[in-house]
Amino acid sequence: MKIIFLGAPGAGKGTQAKILEKKYNALQVSTGDILRKSIEEKTPLGLKAKEFMDQGKLVTDDLIIGLIKDKFTSKDFPENWIMDGFPRTVAQAEAFDDLLASINLELDCVIEVDVNRDVLVKRLTGRRVCKKCQAPYHVNFNPPKKEGVCDYCGDNNIYQRSDDTEEVVVNRLKVYDDQTAPLIEYYSSKKLLHKIDGDLPLEEVSKKIELLFQ
Ligand code: AP5
Repeated sequence: MKIIFLGAPGAGKGTQAKILEKKYNALQVSTGDILRKSIEEKTPLGLKAKEFMDQGKLVTDDLIIGLIKDKFTSKDFPENWIMDGFPRTVAQAEAFDDLLASINLELDCVIEVDVNRDVLVKRLTGRRVCKKCQAPYHVNFNPPKKEGVCDYCGDNNIYQRSDDTEEVVVNRLKVYDDQTAPLIEYYSSKKLLHKIDGDLPLEEVSKKIELLFQ
């Protein structure tokens, strides 16, 4: 499995990537999760990224492309992977194409999770995330099975992301329209794009995605 999840903030990329990761023993590569961890650990990357993320802006392409190159060229990088939140600009997509070609890998497909704008805002402002494994939940649509406890790792530190406030969410959606939405055409023209209706209930979205792998 070598796939990319594409979609606006809150579309459900992370939710569906986590489900596939478990089912197919693939690695979820979430650039957002990597950056948040770097911020927490106060690494040089984290210190540079924080200012952009707090405002809902994209971190610069050179930092992100460098991060992805390091991952893909590391010795223990697995055969099966799911990109969640990368690429986010045409420059990142082109650099990723070059990287994959240089190591003789090919993308299987790109899954675009398409969700209505008003739904996205509700999903993001009600989202809660496991601090330890980053599994996403929602106070109404997708609470953990046991209150306050992560279904995936059993940890009990479930928190609200600092960029999930209404003000930052509005900016993140604008950034998506300006800088990431052009990737829909980019991958469509390469005949790699599959559009999924992400407005459906979570389990229904999973079933539609599953059909792509049968
Ligand atoms: P990142 O962490 O990637 O955030 P994002 O793309 O904004 O996406 P989200 O994680 O917000 O949404 P999601 O689609 O994963 O939704 P989720 O599954 O959680 O990036 C954060 C920041 O990092 C960026 O702003 C940028 O600064 C930086 N960054 C990251 N990557 C970068 C890159 N490549 N280049 C430059 N900068 C980068 O679901 C949302 C909610 O909805 C949850 O509560 C969930 O439970 C619920 N839900 C999911 N599916 C359903 C459903 N079908 N029905 C009902 N509820 C649902």
